[in-house]
Amino acid sequence: MKTQHWSAPEYAKHAHFVSSMASEVLSLLNPQQGEVVLDLGCGDGELGAYIQSQGCSVIGIDASASMVAAAKARGLTALEIDGHNMDFENQFDAVFSNAALHWLLQPEKVIDGVRRALKEKGRFVAEMGGAGNIATLVSAMEEVFTDNPDFGAFQNPWYFPSVDKYQSLLEKAGFLVKDIALISRPTPLTGGLDKWLDIFANSIHRPLSDEQKIRFFNAVERKVKSALFSEQEGWVADYVRLRFKAIKL
Ligand code: BEZ
Repeated sequence: MKTQHWSAPEYAKHAHFVSSMASEVLSLLNPQQGEVVLDLGCGDGELGAYIQSQGCSVIGIDASASMVAAAKARGLTALEIDGHNMDFENQFDAVFSNAALHWLLQPEKVIDGVRRALKEKGRFVAEMGGAGNIATLVSAMEEVFTDNPDFGAFQNPWYFPSVDKYQSLLEKAGFLVKDIALISRPTPLTGGLDKWLDIFANSIHRPLSDEQKIRFFNAVERKVKSALFSEQEGWVADYVRLRFKAIKL
């Protein structure tokens, strides 16, 4: 699997919608004064800093060195750790995650690490891409690879589970699922489609030559424009969120 690269400054400039649309999952977390919270995939630390401002002690982890540096600059304790490789034991009242779990392709390993990290009765509260998330974009990208055999094989870097699938993974791992839902959330791409592809799909197009990249960007735009673009609203992607709260038994 080719890895995704993140630039915290680019992310802050063009992907602010990710944290600004997190109010529902933050409400579901309902952080309480004095709690110790792990922010799994903390990105540039914006949400972790908010949780900390509610009187919690927060540790953020992220696989990207650039994101960890940005989170530390916000005053968060942040560690460069891939969510598959967590090694915390009975330490947290809550594990929180926003828009990160869909990048982790071995969910059993992640959920097991979360369970071990939590104290007994601790909660796992998260939002991630769910079944059908960015389906228009994913099928367009896949088709463009099929139409251009010189690009090689398409590798989907994302995991977008259904309610049933994720609930069953949580239950098998020893969680009681209190809340779980799939929510359609059309999302304006404030920087436009090219910026979105540039930031979020770079593991897909980074191996391509400059000429192939131009073909890729143009062909994806042609395929999705009628579904995702309007003069009134600009680019709006077909995001679907899976949001849940589960308790460690
Ligand atoms: C998401 O937040 O759902 C997402 C963002 C970028 C790529 C894939 C999914």
